Amino acid sequence: MNSASTLSYSEQIDFAFDYIKKLFLKTPQVGIILGTGLGQLIQNIEIELEVSYDTIPFFPVSTVESHKGKLIFGKLSGKSVVAMQGRFHYYEGYSMKEVTFPVRVMKKLGIGHLFVSNAAGGLNPDYNIGELMIINDHIDLFPENPLRGKNLDTFGVRFPDMSEPYDLSLVKKGLDIAVDNGLIVHQGVYAAVQGPNLETKAEYKYLRTIGGDAIGMSTIPEVIVARHMELPVFAISAITDLCSPGKVRKISLAEVLAGAAKAEPGMSLIIRELVKSL
Ligand code: HPA
Repeated sequence: MNSASTLSYSEQIDFAFDYIKKLFLKTPQVGIILGTGLGQLIQNIEIELEVSYDTIPFFPVSTVESHKGKLIFGKLSGKSVVAMQGRFHYYEGYSMKEVTFPVRVMKKLGIGHLFVSNAAGGLNPDYNIGELMIINDHIDLFPENPLRGKNLDTFGVRFPDMSEPYDLSLVKKGLDIAVDNGLIVHQGVYAAVQGPNLETKAEYKYLRTIGGDAIGMSTIPEVIVARHMELPVFAISAITDLCSPGKVRKISLAEVLAGAAKAEPGMSLIIRELVKSL
C-alpha cells in the first residue's frame, strides 16, 4: 500500500477501481478468493487479463507472495469472473482495512456474488482430512473488525445485519452438487482466530464448545465486508487437519497443503457448477 497518500480510504478504493476499469472494460459477475493450497481453480479460468497487485494503486502487496499476487479476469463456466491469486491474511501484519480492500474494489467493479475458500482444521469429530465443509455460519474471534471507524455510507449501513451471512440457497445448491457427484461435503460453522500459531488442545476444545465445526485464520473479514455491501456469499473450507479430542497431532504446513490438495478437486467442481448456475 502506498503510505505516502493523504487520500481517504474511499478515495483509495476509487483510485484502484479507476486503474483496473481502464484495463478491463467488462463487468465481472463473480469475485473469487482462493485459500491456502486451493489455487487450482484458476486453471479452469479462461484468462483474459492478469493484473499484478503491485501495479494497482493502494492495493496491499503480500510480502511473501508478491511474485504471484494478482487479480485474474476471465471466464469460468461461461461467466465473467475476477479471482484473487493470493489473499491477505491478518497474521501477516495487514490491518483489516487492508485485508478487505480488494473486496471493496471487486464490488465497485460490479461483482454480484463473492466466493471464498480456505484451509481449516476440523473441530467436528465427524470430519476427516480432505473433506469439504460448506460454511453456513461463522464465529468471529479476530481482535479487529474491518468495519471499525467511520462508516463507508456509500457501501453500506453502520450496523449491517449478520443473521444470515452465507447465502443459504447457495449452501443448499452446493450440497446438492456434492451429492450428485459423490463427494463428502458437510455444512457447518467456521470460527476464525488471528493466528499465526495453531491452537492448543484446550483452545480446540473451547472452539468446539462454543459451536465451531472448523477453525481457520481467514475468510470472516472478507465476508463481513461483503455483507456490509449486501453481496451474497458462498464460502467453503477444505479440512486439512483434525482438531477434536484424541485426534490432535503436531501439524506442518506441508500437511495442511496435502489436505488442501486432497480436497481441491471437489471444491473446484462445486464452485464451477455453482458459478454456472448463477
Ligand atoms: N487452526 C487454525 N487454522 C488452520 C488450521 C487449524 O487447525 N488448519 C488449517 N488452518
